[in-house]
Amino acid sequence: QKDGYRFFMEKEIYEQSSVVSDCMLGRIKDSEILFDEIETSIIDGINEIKICACGTSYHAGLTASYLFERLSKVKCNVEIASEFRYKEPLLTKDTLFIVISQSGETADTLEALKMAKNAGLKTLVVCNVDNSSMTRTADATILTRAGIEKGVASTKAFSTQTVVLWMLALFFAKAKNVISVEVMQQELHTLREVPKSLCISDKIHEKMKRLSKRYLHGHGFFFIGRDVFYPLALEGALKLKEISYLHAEGYPAGEMKHGPIALADPELFTIALMPQNLLYDKIKSNVEELSARDSTICAISPLDFDLADDFVKINSCDHYMLEFFEMLIVLQLLSMEISIRLGNDVDMPRNLAKSVTVE
Ligand code: F6R
Repeated sequence: QKDGYRFFMEKEIYEQSSVVSDCMLGRIKDSEILFDEIETSIIDGINEIKICACGTSYHAGLTASYLFERLSKVKCNVEIASEFRYKEPLLTKDTLFIVISQSGETADTLEALKMAKNAGLKTLVVCNVDNSSMTRTADATILTRAGIEKGVASTKAFSTQTVVLWMLALFFAKAKNVISVEVMQQELHTLREVPKSLCISDKIHEKMKRLSKRYLHGHGFFFIGRDVFYPLALEGALKLKEISYLHAEGYPAGEMKHGPIALADPELFTIALMPQNLLYDKIKSNVEELSARDSTICAISPLDFDLADDFVKINSCDHYMLEFFEMLIVLQLLSMEISIRLGNDVDMPRNLAKSVTVE
């Protein structure tokens, strides 16, 4: 069943290129996005999007919030479902409420969805499991088509969720008439390139195997990025924590100087996400500050970076979202190889369950 892979997680990391193709199948037409399962009227009267989710699905939501504001020009905020539930949230009917869940069964997310529904909001779930509690509850469903995910650490669920949400941002942008023909064409072209960015070369996997040796000890990890690379940093840190049991934090790169930089020393490992196509100079200067304070730097970038102690070169692409998926592969492989070297059970990490149906 593992098809020759050592773990389900490894198989699922490798499957991402093909499941993301499945997830786009029939949904990208010449100059627009089509979702058979929803009407463009879903956005009628909507002035705001609120996203609710947990864990990795929350990170996909956070990524999407940048895309919804940038592409669809609609205000978007994201909340962790367990926080949302008890904060007495103010809900208005001009808000589209989106929940994201691989399983469709996560208790906190399901409860948040019910709260929004009871408050009379339009609800949409981005989900991997048809006929789950969430798809049965929400007004509309978009399936991610990732196939069964067995590894407790979520991989292909995240990449397909991110692609669906990106497509949804374009769907709304077109419905609201806020996107130019040129930008739409460029985005659709880029979407079609995503499966290629998720293909894994032997070279990059070997590199991550070698690199993993250097990161088995230390005081901890900071994964840093800006814009959509900030949620990606959160996701990289979560993957490492859950299967390697090493302490890792994801942080917005520009925020390091407001506290965490005090931790910098050679035993603090900074994993820096340095895309060429988005705020490169900004993240570069954030990393330079950390390097000047002797943090050990592992830079992931298409551009050479002299100050890096370790450097992972990704393919050069012309859109930041392609860099996003190239880096996602690197982060997933890195955490898996570290976990394997530590002798952990990659697919069944301690204390974790695949579906969290209790709050
Ligand atoms: C992390 C992971 C969890 C889930 C979270 C939400 O790798 O798998 O953080 O993402 O429990 O689960 P779903 O998406 O099923 O609602």
